[in-house]
Amino acid sequence: MSSARLYGGKVLVAGATGKTGQWVVKRLMHYGIPVKVFSRERHKALQLFGSSVECATGRIQSSAEVANAVKGCDAVICALGSSSYSGESSPGEVDRDGVKRLVDEASRAGVRHFGLVSSMAVTRWYHPLNLFAGVLLKKWEAEEHLREIFSRDGRSYTIVRPGGLKDGEPLQHRLHLDIGDKLWSGWINRADVAELLVLSLWLERAKNKTFEVINDGDELQTGLERYYDALG
Ligand SMILES: NC(=O)c1ccc[n+]([C@@H]2O[C@H](COP(=O)([O-])OP(=O)(O)OC[C@H]3O[C@@H](n4cnc5c(N)ncnc54)[C@H](OP(=O)(O)O)[C@@H]3O)[C@@H](O)[C@H]2O)c1
Repeated sequence: MSSARLYGGKVLVAGATGKTGQWVVKRLMHYGIPVKVFSRERHKALQLFGSSVECATGRIQSSAEVANAVKGCDAVICALGSSSYSGESSPGEVDRDGVKRLVDEASRAGVRHFGLVSSMAVTRWYHPLNLFAGVLLKKWEAEEHLREIFSRDGRSYTIVRPGGLKDGEPLQHRLHLDIGDKLWSGWINRADVAELLVLSLWLERAKNKTFEVINDGDELQTGLERYYDALG
């Protein structure tokens, strides 16, 4: 059975032009799943994905633009990330308020599943990364909001908390998944984070899960579905 039949809906990718977001789009296309990308810059999205991919232009700060983006979508995968201490791309604006706005507009628009790229260590207020405008605390607040809104009324969520992100192809490494934010170090390819979130669209055992993930050594993988089994 083709994976396109395993998931028949349309997926909005927020942060699609980012390094992880690009992989999310690629993996969705790999499975033949209809994609809509949400980007601040139309020409950047067109350059990366071509004109065959539907594009909604807008900023995550605009409720109207976010509402327009989620319209007609069955799922959202969010790979947004802040990049500056203050202003439009700050942790408060993007990782917390932006993600919360996306969650709210998605639920209002009837989106059924929401996958989020968060981060290892989000529960640790004392982590040095919080010196960057409280980025982990902001991500934690967004996570909590997502869990609250998408765990009811027939909706579902999957929150992936990766270790340090690296570039490279998917399915090149064994993975280690954990729950409870107990891991202290480790890294993972963005492409594998993307793959796990794409699988969460149709794997029931991925629904309503929050977990950390890191690479556990080099070994070609035929798929990543089995890692969801360990989450129970
Ligand atoms: N780096 C790590 O080691 C690490 C580890 C764990 C977790 N994470 C988290 O993983 C996620 C993905 O990381 P990444 O390296 O793939 O991120 P990235 O390449 O920096 O991409 C971030 C995306 O967010 C978009 N964005 C930022 N501000 C926006 C705004 N105001 N409105 C709309 N879009 C906005 C960017 O759009 P433009 O393309 O228009 O700029 C870009 O598409 C992030 O949340 C990051 O914090 C990272």
